[in-house]
Amino acid sequence: MNKQFAIDVKEGLSTSPKRLSSKYFYDEKGSALFSKIMKLPEYYLTNAEFEIFEKKASEIIKLLGVTHQKSFDLIELGAGDGYKTIELLKALDAHHFQYQYTPIDISAKALDQIEKNIHQQLPNKKISPKLGDYFHILHDLKPSPLSKVILFLGSNIGNMENVEANSFLTHLSENLSKGDKLILGVDLKKSKDIVLPAYNDSQGVTSAFNLNLLSRINSELDADFNTDLFEHTPMYDEQEGVAKSAIKSIVNQEVEIKSLDMKVAFKKEEQIHTEISRKYDDIIIQKICLNTGLNIVGKITDSQNYFADYIIEKQ
Ligand SMILES: C[S@@+](CC[C@H](N)C(=O)[O-])C[C@H]1O[C@@H](n2cnc3c(N)ncnc32)[C@H](O)[C@@H]1O
Repeated sequence: MNKQFAIDVKEGLSTSPKRLSSKYFYDEKGSALFSKIMKLPEYYLTNAEFEIFEKKASEIIKLLGVTHQKSFDLIELGAGDGYKTIELLKALDAHHFQYQYTPIDISAKALDQIEKNIHQQLPNKKISPKLGDYFHILHDLKPSPLSKVILFLGSNIGNMENVEANSFLTHLSENLSKGDKLILGVDLKKSKDIVLPAYNDSQGVTSAFNLNLLSRINSELDADFNTDLFEHTPMYDEQEGVAKSAIKSIVNQEVEIKSLDMKVAFKKEEQIHTEISRKYDDIIIQKICLNTGLNIVGKITDSQNYFADYIIEKQ
């Protein structure tokens, strides 16, 4: 049993409102579903950021300030299947830069996939994947004598509240040296008509992805959630720029989680909060970088201005 998962599920389902961390979406089935989400027509985030990496990799490399004389560490937090990053690797290789790529992910399935994808597209590339929680792996980063470029893409940071993002960036910054860079990919604030369908696709893949959390609790913690009695519930507050996903109980019910020796009561319409996906503008990015020792040095957007990759430097 994954001990931390058990602790977090117990705590999250005992508080009000109930919540489960989005990092637990990514078991084997969840990672496969997320790869599907990335290919959905409604999920504009991937295409927009892919366009940036495909068409503007040279601009990114220029802003990174890397040189041919010195090798550097390219470290990706929550790498997923590497679909967009591979475009950057191709551009770095085409220009003969020397670097070591380390994708970090909490999902073994995601790391398998990225190794497969890189092997197919860049057969000679050697990479050093690391399995684990990036919140814990961050402190292992400092010892390397090489300069670092950290990738944090896909608006992963948007899963954190602003205060949490600010302390995450502070912690990241403490493990970087002067001149190291961060590429921070974020989804930009935009209309509800574009954002909401990305979290509520017509094929029901996002719904299956969200409800898979309950199936994961069933199989790993011996619980009896009936996923037919729960519903995926997406919301977007356009003013605030925050999308939220929840799982709603459609009846009054009780669920038993045997491994935790616990019974959880749900009222009809009661929600379990599972994910926030914050949308950004320059002001919010500046706010989350405040007092972190990190400085914004560039911003690259896609042609529709849906998504931005900020280049950020350790001072
Ligand atoms: C939304 S996906 C994005 C993947 C990729 N960065 C992209 O832009 O396509 C999030 C990825 O981060 C990983 N992840 C989520 N929380 C994590 C954590 N705390 N530590 C390490 N990986 C994590 C998940 O397994 C998943 O592969």
